[in-house]
Amino acid sequence: MNDKLVKLNRPDAGVDLDLPLLEGSEGPDVFDISRLYRDSGMFTFDPGFLSTASCRSAITYIDGDQGVLRYRGYPIEQLAEYSDFLEVAYLLLYGELPTTQEYQEFSHIILHHTMLNQGLLRFFEGFNYDAHPMAMMVGMAGSLSAFYHDSLDINDPDHREICAHRMIAKMPTIAAATYKHNIGEPIIYPRNDLSYCANFLHMMFATPCEEYKVTPLAERALNLLFILHADHEQNASTSTVRLAGSSGANPFACVAAGIASLWGPAHGGANEAVIAMLDEIGSVRNIEKYVAKAKDKDDPFRLMGFGHRVYKNYDPRAKIIRSVCHEILNTQVNDNPLFELAMRLEEIALQDEYFVERQLYPNVDFYSGIIYRALGIPTTMFTVMFAIARTTGWVSHWMEMIGDPAHRIGRPRQLYVGHGKRDYPPRAQR
Ligand code: SDX
Repeated sequence: MNDKLVKLNRPDAGVDLDLPLLEGSEGPDVFDISRLYRDSGMFTFDPGFLSTASCRSAITYIDGDQGVLRYRGYPIEQLAEYSDFLEVAYLLLYGELPTTQEYQEFSHIILHHTMLNQGLLRFFEGFNYDAHPMAMMVGMAGSLSAFYHDSLDINDPDHREICAHRMIAKMPTIAAATYKHNIGEPIIYPRNDLSYCANFLHMMFATPCEEYKVTPLAERALNLLFILHADHEQNASTSTVRLAGSSGANPFACVAAGIASLWGPAHGGANEAVIAMLDEIGSVRNIEKYVAKAKDKDDPFRLMGFGHRVYKNYDPRAKIIRSVCHEILNTQVNDNPLFELAMRLEEIALQDEYFVERQLYPNVDFYSGIIYRALGIPTTMFTVMFAIARTTGWVSHWMEMIGDPAHRIGRPRQLYVGHGKRDYPPRAQR
């Protein structure tokens, strides 16, 4: 137990408290305020949670000032260089990199849980052909809990593990099915002889009439994008999964809540919004106009893919993706005008005082859409790609929270600014 204390002294309010100071293994120390209300009758106030640690976690560490991102202590740059997505999924779930045998066993489990119950597949008949894929993802993920009554006891570690495996395994199958539904093609079943990423591309682009040949470069690019998007500490969607899970809700429903939160354009929906923004800007000669719009407080337009709550330096994931863009696009016949436009926009923005003084740099979403488009993935599927990868982070955080016997239901309070007590007036007198 840490014996460091911080004094909270407000004689006018009759408050003189010693708040325990807790130290983590890395990053800022925290004041433990869990007994503040009991001992002072006051709450803290932190809308948006800019200065609030919601939990203890050992999964991911971010240093926003240094542009550091580590999964279980391993730098994202090394995982991007040497690992693959299923190995990273194992690392996030279990805390250590797998041995060769552990990797083979885990891969076999995941790759043999990719099919969906036929009853689930019939759900697609109820969606409009033009339903947004994320709308279908929310519905399908939550509906998984209607099919696995045999493993929904969250207090049983084996049930928790099989739920995690099923979600990681089935998300690509559901995702590809949403795309096939949108284009009116039959759903393509997963194959057990393909890797996780190759299987997804197969389910996206094969048809009953023709196999799809996955290129090694596409498989490698997708592995990289899934690794980079796998987890990111207590972001909005992961915090949503934790809060939903804190009530004891089943993990499928919690992940559905996470997908809903990720969909927002301020979060995972940004990658789709970046491409729409670049398409709207259209040409380098329009950049100045749009940068001015982004700076204009009276204009709701923001430079999508720029800025981050935590990174006040370049998002390390954006740096990695940017370099892969060059490699992917160099294989294309014509140079990619979108990538040229994005690089020019970045260059102009990063020379502009408004972005510099607010420490607004490109984030993970700024370049990812360019690679997805180069892989033939439609813009409406970009956030779905993010959800496939982040499912691993969500289930890892859910497992960490539910596995902690000390976890409690999350129930924030508020600063009440509404009416004081008043009596009900008869309608005729209003
Ligand atoms: C992700 O949290 C995570 O880890 C998320 C994520 C993950 O892996 O889970 O990293 C994934 O969500 C990345 C972020 C994707 N979103 C976007 O690219 C959307 C565009 N960015 C902004 O909406 C914004 O930067 C946020 C939402 C990302 C961060 O918002 P904050 O931390 O609440 O910052 P803020 O809105 O308070 O902005 C601070 C200032 C404001 O100006 P002032 O009031 O100080 O004058 O910067 C301005 C903002 O107006 N600003 C921008 C801007 N982002 C912030 N101005 C123009 N364009 C922008 N993109």
